[in-house]
Amino acid sequence: MYLTREEERIIDGEEGEAKAIALKLIVRVGEALGAERLVEINHAHASGISYDNIGEPGLRFMKRLLEGGGRVAVFSTYNPAGTSFLEDAPVNRDPTLLRKQLEVIKTLEAMGFRRSATCIPYTLRQPGLGEHLAWGESSAVAVANSIYGARSNREAGPLALAAALVGRTYLWGLHLPENRKPGIHVRVEAKVEGELGAGLVGYIVGKLSGNLVPYIDTGGALDTRQGIALCAAAAASGSTAMCLMRGLSPEDNGPPREPVERIAIGEAELHEALDELSTAEPREAEVFFTGCPHHEPGAVLEKVRGLVERYGPPRRPLWIAVPGSIPPGLTAEARRLRSMNIVLLPGTCLVVTRLRGIVDAVATDSVKTAFYISRRHRVRVALANLEDYFRLQAGLNPRQTGR
Ligand code: F3S
Repeated sequence: MYLTREEERIIDGEEGEAKAIALKLIVRVGEALGAERLVEINHAHASGISYDNIGEPGLRFMKRLLEGGGRVAVFSTYNPAGTSFLEDAPVNRDPTLLRKQLEVIKTLEAMGFRRSATCIPYTLRQPGLGEHLAWGESSAVAVANSIYGARSNREAGPLALAAALVGRTYLWGLHLPENRKPGIHVRVEAKVEGELGAGLVGYIVGKLSGNLVPYIDTGGALDTRQGIALCAAAAASGSTAMCLMRGLSPEDNGPPREPVERIAIGEAELHEALDELSTAEPREAEVFFTGCPHHEPGAVLEKVRGLVERYGPPRRPLWIAVPGSIPPGLTAEARRLRSMNIVLLPGTCLVVTRLRGIVDAVATDSVKTAFYISRRHRVRVALANLEDYFRLQAGLNPRQTGR
């Protein structure tokens, strides 16, 4: 791989041990993939920071980088953690996990990472069209490429951390314009209802697209939150890191011109996907979870306030995952909502935290959550729209069946 003089100096340790470790790691992976050079990035986002996942070896690696002089070279954020920043959150049951998780966060923040603990880093710093990033959260990567037209591969956690310290990544994959063209044409013939409907489309697209960039035509344009849900589900069920969504993606230049595989998604396929992911009925759920990917606190609270006014507070709890850096003004509101069975979970989510022994059946509007929690925590899952859950709690029928 071609390296500039500055990059050679970093590798030789002239800018400290941490940067040398970080750049060697990036170069080694880039060379294995066939990258010819590195590219400067504007934002690194480290995933895989839940202590439950990385354990002592992961924490030791981070501490070694910190002690070796590791400091971020670019705007850097980190993914949701294994515990919530709200100390008495219902998922914070293990004091040892809480203590260890705080050590991980302290180490990252000592290196200059912004207090974030979120999978929607694009709300902390909006990526520009064509800008290079090194992000490690699969849903955020897909959103950056698909909705902002920025360029990032799906980086492994340690690689995104390394990229934060040197401000570079290997120039390969989705950083190159020739790899951002549509390779499969998906026509959605069913009506896409809310986040759940978009998530089901994403789930099917992820399974069918392999490493190809899908061009998705849903008839009308999806709203941004639906686009986010679609990206998250496609990145969970498959290796999708970019979708071209008609009317939403800035790089949408119309359907592929070259002959490519074409698939159609109708009502029958959406119902099949719903059945595949459902292992419980909404009425069996002990809790409803929303916020995968994380919700922006202001927007979700406005929606929830409206639902409470219409249907009253839910009888069973509603848990909402939001970024760890919630504005101070919302802390008081979070306390008030608690008395109505509505709990904000800043800085975590049901996939990266521990659930076993806490709940047995969860309802959610997130296909990504449904996909992972049944596998990871062996929790039963029901898929439902948030409004339908409020209706059910108020003793009313859902507005529509299934979706
Ligand atoms: Fe975010 Fe957790 Fe979902 S990290 S995308 S809320 S699985």
